Amino acid sequence: MMFNKITDALVTRMRDIAGAGCVYTTPGELEKYSHDETEDLRYYPEVVVKPQTTAQVSQLLKLCNEYHIPVTPRGAGTGLSGGALPVNAGLVISMEGFNHIIAIDERNLQATVEPGVITEVFMDVVAAKGLLYPVDPASKGSCFIGGNVANCSGGPRVVKYGTIREYVLNLEVVLPSGEVIWTGANTLKYASGYNLTQLMIGSEGTLGIVTKIVVKLIPRPTQTALMLASFATNEEACGAVSAIFRAGIIPSALEFMERRGVEWVIAHDGINFALKDGIAAFLLIEVDGNNPDVIFADCEKINAALEEFNCQDVLFADSSAQKEELWHMRRIMGLSVKSNSVYKEEDTVVPRAELPALIKGIKAIGARFGFESVCYGHAGDGNLHVNIIKASMSDADWNKKLKDGIKEIFELTVSLGGTISGEHGIGLVQKEFMPIKYPDVNLALMRGIKQVFDPNGILNPGKIF
Ligand code: MLT
Ligand code: ZN
Repeated sequence: MMFNKITDALVTRMRDIAGAGCVYTTPGELEKYSHDETEDLRYYPEVVVKPQTTAQVSQLLKLCNEYHIPVTPRGAGTGLSGGALPVNAGLVISMEGFNHIIAIDERNLQATVEPGVITEVFMDVVAAKGLLYPVDPASKGSCFIGGNVANCSGGPRVVKYGTIREYVLNLEVVLPSGEVIWTGANTLKYASGYNLTQLMIGSEGTLGIVTKIVVKLIPRPTQTALMLASFATNEEACGAVSAIFRAGIIPSALEFMERRGVEWVIAHDGINFALKDGIAAFLLIEVDGNNPDVIFADCEKINAALEEFNCQDVLFADSSAQKEELWHMRRIMGLSVKSNSVYKEEDTVVPRAELPALIKGIKAIGARFGFESVCYGHAGDGNLHVNIIKASMSDADWNKKLKDGIKEIFELTVSLGGTISGEHGIGLVQKEFMPIKYPDVNLALMRGIKQVFDPNGILNPGKIF
C-alpha cells in the first residue's frame, strides 16, 4: 500500500476541522502516541488529532481517504498487541476527547457512552445505580471502552458474564469514507441481516472508528465470596478448573496464577502474602449472587471438586479488604512479571478441559528452547497469558529461538482446539502467526471484508493481516 506524507497544507486542513488546539505535531507531543503497552515498540506518527465530535472524525477520515494518508485510531494506549501503533506514520486519531457518558437508560437497562470513557469510571457510575457492567480487563482503571470494543476485551468475569461482545448492542461508526452509520439497533435481539455491530467488535480499528457505544447493563449481584486455592502442580490446578463447572457451578471469576507470578508480585509490590513451600500454582475463585446461603453451598461444592485435584489449601477471604488484596495480586501480575525482565507475552486460549495439556506443553516447549515462562490468566475461559521471560538468555539466543518457540506454542494451542488470542487481539505482533490458525480461504474472506469497508486501506494499516 502506497501512502502519502502529511503536508503542511493538510495540517492546516486538520486544524480547520478540529481546531488548532487539538492538532499536535512536535516530537514532544507525539511521543506518547508512538507506543502502547506492547513490549518496547515505537513508531512515531506525523500528526496527532484529538477530535471532539463525530462530524470532526468524519471530516478527518474523508480528508485522509482522499489524500491516502494512513490513520491509526487510538484509545488509551493500553493494548498488548501493538494495535494502536502508527506503523506507517501518518495520522493518529486519539479518542481522548470522547469521554462522556451520554445517557444511562434505567428503564431499558442500557447506556450510551463515548469510546474515550475509562472502563472503571463507567463501571462505578452504573454501580452507583445498582447496575453491573461486568467487562473489566486488568487495565480497567486506564483503558477506554472504545479500545475494549476494538479488541473484544474480556477480563476475569467473562467466565460468567461474557466478553464485551455480549454487552454491545449498537455502535455509531465513522467509515473510512467519512460516512457515519449506526450498525444495528438498541435491542437485545437482532436477526436483521449481517450483524455489523458484531463485525466491528474485535476489528481492531481496521474497519471504522467507533464514536458512540450502546451497551446492555444487568442487575448488580449483592454478595460475593472469594477463595484462593493452592496446588502442588500446574496440571492439578488446571485440571480442577473444568471440574468446578462439572460440579454445577459457574463462578463469576476463575483465575490461574503460577507461583513465579505471585513471587514477582510480592517483589514488585511489597504485598504481604505468605507463599508456602511446595505450592506451584493458585486458583482465585469468585462466586457471586444475592443469596448468601446459595453462595455458601456453591463454595462447598467447589471445595469438594478441588479436593479431587489434591488441593493443598483453600483461603477464604473474610473481609472486603482481603478480597481487594487478592484481586490486586491478580490484577498487577502482568505489570509485575513484565517489570522483571525483557519478555514476550502471548494470549493462548483453548477449550477449558484442555488447559492441563496446554500448560504441560508450554513448559515442555520452554525446556526445549531454554526459556522460562510465567503463566496466569482466565482459566475459567481456557485463556492463559503466557509471558516468555528472557532473564539471563543471551540476545543471540533470544532472537534466534523466540519466534520458533512461540510458533510451537501456537501450534500446540491450535492443535488443542484453541486460538492464538483470547482477548489481547492480533494487532501488529501476532499477525505473522495468523496462518497457524487460519487457512488461506479464511484469511481471504477477512481481507475481502477489509476491502469492502476500506478500499484504500488507510485505516490502521499493517494490523491483523
Ligand atoms: C491480565 O489478565 O492481566 C491482562 O490481560 C493483562 C496482561 O496479561 O498483562
Ligand atoms: Zn487478561
